[in-house]
Amino acid sequence: MGDKSDKDGKLDTLLAHAGSHPERQLGAVNPPVYRVSTVVFPTIAAMQEGAHRPFDSMRYGRHGTPTRFAFEDAVCALEGGYRSIATSSGQAAIASTLAALLGAGDHALIADSVYHPTRAYCVDHLARYGVEIEFYDPLIGAGIGALMRPNTKLVYTESPGSLTFEVQDIPAISAAAHENGAIVVTDNTWGTPVFFNALEKGVDVSLHSATKFLVGHSDAMLGVITCKYEDHWRRIKNAIAVSGVAPGSEEVFLGLRGIRTLNVRLQRHQESGLHVAKWLLDHPEVTRVLHPALPHDPGHFLWKRDFTGACGLFGIELRPGSQQAVAAFVDDLDLFGIGFSWGGYESLILPTTGAVHRTATQWRTTGPTLRLHIGLEDVDDLIADLEKGLLIYRYLVFSSSPDLIRGSTWMAGSSPAMT
Ligand SMILES: Cc1ncc(COP(=O)(O)O)c(C=O)c1O
Repeated sequence: MGDKSDKDGKLDTLLAHAGSHPERQLGAVNPPVYRVSTVVFPTIAAMQEGAHRPFDSMRYGRHGTPTRFAFEDAVCALEGGYRSIATSSGQAAIASTLAALLGAGDHALIADSVYHPTRAYCVDHLARYGVEIEFYDPLIGAGIGALMRPNTKLVYTESPGSLTFEVQDIPAISAAAHENGAIVVTDNTWGTPVFFNALEKGVDVSLHSATKFLVGHSDAMLGVITCKYEDHWRRIKNAIAVSGVAPGSEEVFLGLRGIRTLNVRLQRHQESGLHVAKWLLDHPEVTRVLHPALPHDPGHFLWKRDFTGACGLFGIELRPGSQQAVAAFVDDLDLFGIGFSWGGYESLILPTTGAVHRTATQWRTTGPTLRLHIGLEDVDDLIADLEKGLLIYRYLVFSSSPDLIRGSTWMAGSSPAMT
């Protein structure tokens, strides 16, 4: 094996070899986990040599290690960008990108459907530093042109939104933003570098919670940002160098290892996710399935046009029932863990009623909502598990026993805030 990272290749070949440099590590296929803070130099001259290019070689642990460079190179090859930057979490990638690209007096347009901590960072922090934050209808498409102001510097997208699964018209939004000189950023965690080619669709900066599908095993926090242009990369990289949100080497090693099997895992997540979603669509307790790959979904046309696949994360709405009934359904499941996050090999479920925060638009539901991440278990076992839980839900909702249906109207806003 030689240096494959610079060579073009079909997706699976890239996933197997991008960022791989066995010749630099005594032939070992994978880079070692470099545990580094201090880097020592043989002479003052050697130390000064790289000072004008501080991020291109080993100078200090916070700025990069060979393990991290390999992960960044691999993601960059997949995303087709100028360069990538690894961060200590997906949220660090989001906050650092926004902080680096925005300043006092700038106006930023943020999709109303974004991951809630992104909204909180904008409202609680960027606004305090003098950035004007405006939330927009995620379905606005080219209409975003009408919201542009002379000081609009950035348009932030997330498609589909990780709770409501609304698909955004990224090419139309990007074209309108660029016409007005604004930078387009996307949270591409759901799309992954495999299913959504963000930079090709018009995005300037694509970021991921690599904690999800890239790592893929629920055992590391990691983020990654890929820039199409050097100028954006430099601004974000400099901001990250001084904010100190560098990932640990163990985490980037796990990210790199996850990339090698990313497509294989995603194909299975996609297949099982669709199978479960279709089954739920026909289930009498389920009134709505939010999954862009299903033909009835309002975002299906855009998803089909712009994405090459769908991961195993989607939402459902149940027919109206009590919180107790939802809790009994979820608690009864054996194979679905109750937990935040997603993208690991194991299935997860999370009640989401009351967790959707909107200010520019409204999100209407009539019954309790939940988010499912379909993992790599046997799909028939997953369906049997859900069937069993939904039977309990049905029993509790329709049971005539007052004990079982006490307080049975579902109260919006009763769910704990999403982390
Ligand atoms: C869409 C999306 N973006 C970003 C994040 C934040 O990533 P992390 O948990 O790695 O900080 C999450 C986490 O759930 C997410 O769902």
